[in-house]
Amino acid sequence: MLRGKFIVALICVFGLTCSVFATTKESMKVSSEDVVDKSNKCITCHLKEDKSIVTQWENSTHSVEQVSCYTCHAAKSDDPIGYEHEGAFIKTIISPNDCAFCHSKIVQETTASKHASAASVMYSNDGTLASMVASPHGDKKEFASCTECHGSVIAFEKDKEGKFVHNKAGAPITDFSTWPNSGAGRVNPDGSVGSCNSCHSGHNFSASRARQPENCAKCHSGDDHPQAGAYDSSKHAIAYASSPKGEGNSGMNIYKKGEWTLAADYNEAPTCATCHMGSYRKSTGGVVKATHNVGDRIAWSLKDEVSKKRTRVVFTDKTMTDINDGDKIPEVEEEYEYVNFVKDGDKMKKIATLKEVAKIITPEKRQEAMKGVCASCHSSSRVDNFYKQFDASVNTYNEKYAKPALALLEELKKDGLYKDKGFEDGELAYLWFGIWHKAGKAARNGAAMQSPRYEYWEGFHEVSRIFYSQFLPKVQEVANAGKQGAKYKKLINAIKAKK
Ligand code: HEC
Ligand code: HEC
Ligand code: HEC
Ligand code: HEC
Ligand code: HEC
Ligand code: HEC
Ligand code: HEC
Ligand code: HEC
Repeated sequence: MLRGKFIVALICVFGLTCSVFATTKESMKVSSEDVVDKSNKCITCHLKEDKSIVTQWENSTHSVEQVSCYTCHAAKSDDPIGYEHEGAFIKTIISPNDCAFCHSKIVQETTASKHASAASVMYSNDGTLASMVASPHGDKKEFASCTECHGSVIAFEKDKEGKFVHNKAGAPITDFSTWPNSGAGRVNPDGSVGSCNSCHSGHNFSASRARQPENCAKCHSGDDHPQAGAYDSSKHAIAYASSPKGEGNSGMNIYKKGEWTLAADYNEAPTCATCHMGSYRKSTGGVVKATHNVGDRIAWSLKDEVSKKRTRVVFTDKTMTDINDGDKIPEVEEEYEYVNFVKDGDKMKKIATLKEVAKIITPEKRQEAMKGVCASCHSSSRVDNFYKQFDASVNTYNEKYAKPALALLEELKKDGLYKDKGFEDGELAYLWFGIWHKAGKAARNGAAMQSPRYEYWEGFHEVSRIFYSQFLPKVQEVANAGKQGAKYKKLINAIKAKK
């Protein structure tokens, strides 16, 4: 039992970041006896209220490490969302800042990743457009279906004077359309972004639950992001499904607490977490540590209209941004614009700041990091050839379908026959959406994650069917109606004639 306190104390004495967070978390300054005492009261009473929460916690590593109810739920005395609750000043909503006291490196990695900025896309044009489709009244506040994956700006019910309204437990009542949610980029009341329980759901907060593919599939599934479907129909998922999940030489050892290292703890199959996040033993010796930045090991953007490889720019404050192939890449020590969304009341606002570049990570370096994972199970010739196949598939999508389609739309726009305002353009816009957003994503993600079904059947087969049998004829129809038929017939024939 002493071990937990010792670890925490040790981190706090030697960890610089911890001392920064220590001043922000008042519960840590009061004697730990007070924390234990208050937590025991929570436990005793909550065993009657919601026994399963307490039992989940009792079975967790946190319970062993004496990370208890009040350790996480204590609120600073001036925290606006804090409330008096049965003799303790607490809060219900917990943010990465509350975990940072003990897991500062992980919080920093998560916060710098695309996961943490997932809510900001809701405030882009793309997001507004899609939310009109999803929300019952076209009211931006109501995009509930998006927030479950992307995250919301958490807001509270307020009375006429703008003060919080409280429930019988004393807690401020949250705006139902913004909470509960554990979206990847949730914007928390304290201004921090992200939600650790999007992957480590409470109250067992385990690494084990997060590393199982079902965890990522909550969000990475469906037509417009078919990663789970692609994985499920790959040889990797077959190997995962047919391997024992427990310990032993041929087991996945999936329930192991804490670190889970490929080629040390398991050998049979990779899960999403293995390839994108997990630690692995290098063939040359030594262990590459796990990362909470899911962008570290990928180069392509597979979700855009035209895929581009991305260079990562890391700034001196460890924030980062991606630059698409073809755009100017800054030099180290140069200043470069960092665009970010920050909490502004119950909304978000865009800010751009100039920051100093500390490091440039090329697409090749990012792919090398992924290849290191593959190397535990495959020869370098298989892996290198796989990457050639994958690149070739993405290029086929780009060059044969996406670029010619976009060029036609651009021409129609110049001729005043296409507005480029999404769904206002009717069927033509939907057909293009079907090419890049649905079938094109299946093709590219299928190629990335070794699924013949997604790459070809759900992917290229659909891309080419829509392109040749619906999209091109529709372009011709729109052109004919605009008295430009002959010009587009020539353009379309040129596309069809290309090998
Ligand atoms: C004497 C009993 C009692 C004690 C002690 C107690 N609670 Fe509660 N707690 C409750 C009850 C009752 C509720 C309301 C349950 C409901 O709404 O279903 C509640 C609700 C909560 C909620 C949810 C509040 C919301 O947003 O609606 C949290 C979080 C919570 N307790 C945490 C704690 C923590 C942490 C402690 C210890 C510091 C603690 N409780 C101590 C009885 C207690
Ligand atoms: C490691 C930190 C941590 C510890 C320890 C912890 N909690 Fe929580 N608790 C959370 C998080 C995270 C949430 C989710 C809240 C959110 O959505 O932000 C939560 C939510 C809750 C809720 C609301 C749950 C719901 O589904 O409505 C209650 C009640 C609660 N905690 C009580 C407790 C009690 C009692 C204990 C001790 C047995 C405890 N917590 C220990 C982090 C913690
Ligand atoms: C007071 C310190 C402290 C706080 C606060 C804290 N943790 Fe932990 N946590 C620990 C310690 C100590 C361990 C065990 C060592 C390790 O795995 O890092 C641990 C382990 C974990 C593990 C791995 C457990 C396993 O069984 O695999 C997860 C996941 C985790 N914490 C998530 C969280 C999240 C999410 C929060 C915030 C909601 C949080 N922790 C808050 C101290 C803390
Ligand atoms: C089932 C979970 C889920 C839902 C629901 C969801 N998304 Fe997404 N969204 C994702 C994932 C996962 C990605 C990233 C992976 C990808 O696109 O291949 C993403 C990507 C995006 C992107 C591209 C982001 C970028 O950086 O380029 C936009 C824009 C977007 N979503 C908007 C929305 C809107 C608006 C809604 C609601 C109408 C919505 N999403 C609903 C999971 C979801
Ligand atoms: C995208 C999903 C995801 C999110 C979000 C996430 N984690 Fe994790 N986390 C994982 C996975 C997967 C592992 C296990 C890696 C492994 O198996 O080696 C893990 C492992 C951990 C561990 C155990 C590390 C160890 O080596 O013992 C801790 C602690 C942890 N996470 C804390 C956090 C905290 C704190 C946050 C929020 C800032 C967070 N995680 C957000 C997926 C996630
Ligand atoms: C709660 C929903 C959610 C969960 C769970 C989730 N993701 Fe994501 N993920 C997203 C969203 C949304 C995005 C797109 C963010 C954006 O581009 O703005 C994303 C983006 C990504 C990216 C692209 C990163 C980049 O830099 O372009 C990868 C890779 C990824 N996720 C892997 C994972 C893995 C692996 C897991 C499970 C361990 C996981 N995700 C769990 C929602 C989720
Ligand atoms: C065998 C390793 C492996 C496994 C297992 C795996 N992936 Fe991937 N994933 C990749 C590779 C390789 C890429 C493409 C990398 C690149 O662009 O350089 C990729 C790309 C992605 C992307 C980027 C999509 C975009 O729009 O840019 C996301 C998101 C993603 N994977 C999520 C997942 C999820 C979720 C799972 C599990 C359901 C998973 N991956 C399983 C290797 C893997
Ligand atoms: C934990 C082990 C493991 C890791 C890590 C792993 N794979 Fe595999 N992979 C397998 C197994 C098992 C098979 C099936 C082997 C066979 O058919 O002989 C396989 C098969 C493949 C295939 C052939 C697919 C087919 O349908 O025939 C390719 C391509 C592949 N892997 C690429 C990769 C790439 C790229 C990575 C890294 C991003 C990777 N693998 C990581 C275990 C792994």
